[in-house]
This record gives sequence, C-alpha cells and structure tokens, in this order.
Amino acid sequence: MDITSLVSQSVKNLKPISWGDTSYEESYLVLKWGENPYDPPPDVQNAIAKCSKVNVYPSQMGKLKEKIANYCQVDVGQVCMTNGADKAFRLLAEICMDESNEVITFTPSYPVFDTAIQATGGKLKRLALDKNFLIPSVSKIKKAVTLQTKLIYVCNPNNPTGNFIATSDQLEELLALDVLVVVDEAYFEFSQKTALSLLAKYDNLIIIRSLSKTFGLAGLRVAYMLGSPKIIKYFQTFEESVEVFSIATPSLSGAIAAFDALAEIKKNIKLINKTKDTLTAGLAKLGIKVYPSDTSFILFNLKSQTITAAEFLTKMAKRKIILKDVSIYEGLSPYDCYIGIPKENDIKRVISTVKSVVRNY
Ligand SMILES: Cc1ncc(COP(=O)(O)O)c(C=O)c1O
Repeated sequence: MDITSLVSQSVKNLKPISWGDTSYEESYLVLKWGENPYDPPPDVQNAIAKCSKVNVYPSQMGKLKEKIANYCQVDVGQVCMTNGADKAFRLLAEICMDESNEVITFTPSYPVFDTAIQATGGKLKRLALDKNFLIPSVSKIKKAVTLQTKLIYVCNPNNPTGNFIATSDQLEELLALDVLVVVDEAYFEFSQKTALSLLAKYDNLIIIRSLSKTFGLAGLRVAYMLGSPKIIKYFQTFEESVEVFSIATPSLSGAIAAFDALAEIKKNIKLINKTKDTLTAGLAKLGIKVYPSDTSFILFNLKSQTITAAEFLTKMAKRKIILKDVSIYEGLSPYDCYIGIPKENDIKRVISTVKSVVRNY
C-alpha cells in the first residue's frame, strides 16, 4: 500500500513555508522573527520559574481569560485562548472552512493564515495590496466575494510590510458583507490602534492578538481571539472538546503575571518604538528606502544600493546577523528586506554592519 494515499489531498498540495534555521550560536544576533528583544519583567520570569507542579493538568485558563477580558473591556464569553496566534488560524480554518469555501487574503501578508486555510481544502483568493501596501478599494474586494466566501483576513498592521493596510472605515465596509472579517492585531500594543470598538456593533468581527511580540512572551505561545459570544461559543466548545488543556501551566502563569506587570511591559514597548526610529533614521542615512512600521520589525528596500535581499542576507549572516528570507512572502520585490528591531545596545552594531555590507567593505 502507498502509505501517502492516507494523507489528505489538500495537505499534499500545501506549499511548505521554509523558515530556514531556527537555532544559532549565542554570538549571533537573530533579527528574523521580530521578537521582543527584551526579557519579560522579573515578576513574569519568577511566575514562570515557580511552576513546579507540572504533574497535574493546567488549571488557570479561567483566570487568564478574566485578565484578558478585563484588559480588553469585553465579557469572558468573548475570549477564546489559543496556543499562539498561529493556532487561532487553524481553529478558524477547522471551524469555518470546508472544500467548498473561499477566503480572501491580501499579498504580501502573513503566510501562515493562508496555509491553515489551504490545509482544509478551502480556496484562497489573494488580492494584491497597492504600491503603498494598502488594500484595494472595497468595491474591488466586494467583486471577489461570492456565496462561497467565508472569511476575509486583514493583518493590521501587516506582516511583512509593517503598516496598517485598512482603515477603520474600510473594515466597517467589509463587516457589512456576509462574511467573517478576521483582523490580526498581533502587534496591537506598538501603536494602540485597534478594531476593538467595532466588536459591539458587528457579530462577524474576529480579532486575533498575541502575547508573543508586545509582551515579550513568544516562547510561551499564548494568544487570544475576541469576537461575539455567538461565534466565540463555538470556538470554546470545539477547543474544550478536542484540546481542553491547550495552554501549558508555565505559559498560563507567565501570561497572568504579564497582565499584572503592564507598566513595565509598556516601558519595553516604548523603548522598542524608540529604537525603531533610530534604526529607521540610520538606514535612511545610508540611502536605503525604509517603510513606516507599527510593528517590531522594519521592511526596507535595497534597490538604491544595487544589492538584492538574498545577497544582503548572506553577507549579513557572515557577519553574524541573521535576517529573514522574505521569499516566503508572495508579492515582495527581490530588493525587499525584513529586520527585527534589536536591543538599543545593539543598534550601533546593526547599522555599522549594514553599512559595511552595502558599501562593500
Ligand atoms: C501578523 C502575525 N500574526 C500572527 C503571528 C504569530 O504569532 P504567534 O507567535 O502568537 O503564533 C505573527 C508572528 O510573527 C505575525 O506576524
């Protein structure tokens, strides 16, 4: 028997996302994921370290949900916890999609959402962002919507472009359609701009947020979805039926402690935003085109330096700075490069290394 005949055809059809290496020696500066470069506050680290009782299943999900409901000023019944935002995509795909359905996404954008949809056999309609990385006119988007369209995914601000691709008015126009509008706010706290106020008005809005970047807890894998209780109820029921203890005890403890340490977390966010400005100015001074960012990374374009992103990446890696290979995104130019914001202390090293590469020292 051909054992692979047991794998679903939609999974066989998936185009794998090749993220490259995920481990490096200590001396490397890894700026490929847009991680928060700072350790979480000491109380958060202590809460994680104190989790010795791992012989029993996690028990603090209710407490974390209450913290999040309070933070977002919504009811607990509007919150669904997930193991990272990436898991939220899979839940959406599993709960809403089948082979007859379609989803609208934009390019370039975060590719994991698309992959989660494709794994279910759902069809993607990918619409290109314009030259300023903004969504097409809502009338154009409406033309792409059919009776089979279930979801529209808006990554706001967008990975990899870093900007807000849709205004609140545009989101409202999309919400007037008979589809779920999924707004990915993984970077919300860097700008504080959110679609949250629309939740009270629209049952078809789902917001996804993550503790990975803004809270500096990427290793804990904690994220949440917000929506109308009418729809979130199904996510909760499904999750509690198939994976009742989805979030590990240290992750729950660390996340709960993080909501008690918001003042310190906000300080980190402010520092990252300041360092982002310094990096933007440093790259611009070298004549590099930098796109504005409301995230923990920057997209820049090396066309003026006549070096492609692929060459640049290789030369940076030789100098022990690791950047992301952006060929995983559809619709970027070969000169577009992604860099996570480093610690303030590393900014000189980063800018001088970029300078040595583009000036060919
Ligand atoms: C826009 C966006 N959504 C979701 C994620 C995944 O977040 P998490 O670490 O919570 O899975 C990322 C990670 O880079 C992202 O950029």
